[in-house]
Amino acid sequence: MKKITFIGTGYVGLVGGAGISEFGHSVTCADIDQNKIARLQEGEIPIYEPGLESLVKQNVAKGRLHFSDNVPESIQNADIIFIAVGTPQGSNGEANLSAIESVAKTIGENLNGYKIVCTKSTVPIGTGKRIEEIIRSINPNSDFDYVSNPEFLREGAAVKDFLHPDRVIIGTRTQKAIDVMGEVYRPLYINETPIISTSVETAEMIKYAANAFLSLKISYINEIANLCEAVGADVHEVARAMGLDGRISAKFLHPGPGYGGSCFPKDTHALAATGQKYSSPLYTVEAAIKTNASQKVRMVDKLQRLMDGSFKGKTVAVLGLAFKPQTDDVREAASRVIVSQLVDSGTTVHAYDPIAMDNFKIHFPDIQYFDSWQDAVKNAHACILLTEWNEFRGMDLNELKDLMKRPVILDTKNILSIHGLESSGFTYDNVGRKLHL
Ligand code: UDX
Repeated sequence: MKKITFIGTGYVGLVGGAGISEFGHSVTCADIDQNKIARLQEGEIPIYEPGLESLVKQNVAKGRLHFSDNVPESIQNADIIFIAVGTPQGSNGEANLSAIESVAKTIGENLNGYKIVCTKSTVPIGTGKRIEEIIRSINPNSDFDYVSNPEFLREGAAVKDFLHPDRVIIGTRTQKAIDVMGEVYRPLYINETPIISTSVETAEMIKYAANAFLSLKISYINEIANLCEAVGADVHEVARAMGLDGRISAKFLHPGPGYGGSCFPKDTHALAATGQKYSSPLYTVEAAIKTNASQKVRMVDKLQRLMDGSFKGKTVAVLGLAFKPQTDDVREAASRVIVSQLVDSGTTVHAYDPIAMDNFKIHFPDIQYFDSWQDAVKNAHACILLTEWNEFRGMDLNELKDLMKRPVILDTKNILSIHGLESSGFTYDNVGRKLHL
């Protein structure tokens, strides 16, 4: 059993800390945010993530998971320190590393004997070296090994992804660190999880290369979807047949209103900025970013066309605000761009999301929020569906039609039945599928 401290209690820190305690280690999740730690100590989980609350409760009850706002003490008591603080996007597209640098300083001030310092946050290539320099400049005699151990969990499936990863990446320079990290992840050997040892820089690059590739895939299928509309093809059939080619794979070929979330938008910008910095531009990634931005705007244009060219004096119901289902996260969600444009064009917006409304209200306090999709669509001139929550899949289309002022719907996630919409008499559009208007 290792003594482990996670610094930062966001998605990665909290899920990672709880997950590693589940592996049998003693974990302290530390944060300088005293309020957050006090809430966690009382059993309150600050994020919505399926399975997280029970994972935390079980491990707290077994005495393996603790919370502390005393970061220096948590560092001193640990064999391994995981850095899991945020790396938000700075104004120039590069990641803002101020939280990382401040944590590195605190680690440097509190190292007492051999430890592993391991970064889980997604950080630009070269950051590991910088963290080592900061620690050594503060504490020249410090005895530690640095590890880059990027995290690939998805929001909404974070617990499952953490406990059953496709692979674990250990980027470090010493065999001793590889061995210690192997101990941390030992329970995964039983599932034959590949544990890949690389250099620090390679590990940092793997995370960006993977996220940017998935973003490319989505932007690619979105462009194919748009072309399908023009030529009368069906993107779902195209994607399915493409995906049967093992070299392509069927995953991440779902068209939509453009990707959002805390990772893809930020990581693609950061990788593109790194490419520019080293005069090695990533034109494909730059194009994926552009395509994604225009896909969001394209949804507003589509809706406007469905509404006879004008939003003026009309009410639009927005169903789904989260950037994807099973999360209350609205960071970089397509809904943000789309609602903003609707509001600017004088539309009355009625919004509904099963769990993301409180987070959306922070950005759009003045639109109207409703407790059910039925209430949100009442008397609306059109409805735009932005998140594939199951409750939208199950909507009774006749009920929907009866509640709306006009039966007009844009299904940006292609989850409603074209046949059902047609037979209910909807004016309807989607992304990349055959239309029978
Ligand atoms: C992503 C990566 O999947 C994960 O490995 C990494 O650690 C963090 O970034 P996340 O942002 O939580 O995870 O969600 P993900 O399920 O990947 O979806 C991201 C966005 O892409 C969402 O807006 C989603 O709707 C969109 N998406 C995904 C598509 O539009 N089409 C797809 O086929 C898949």
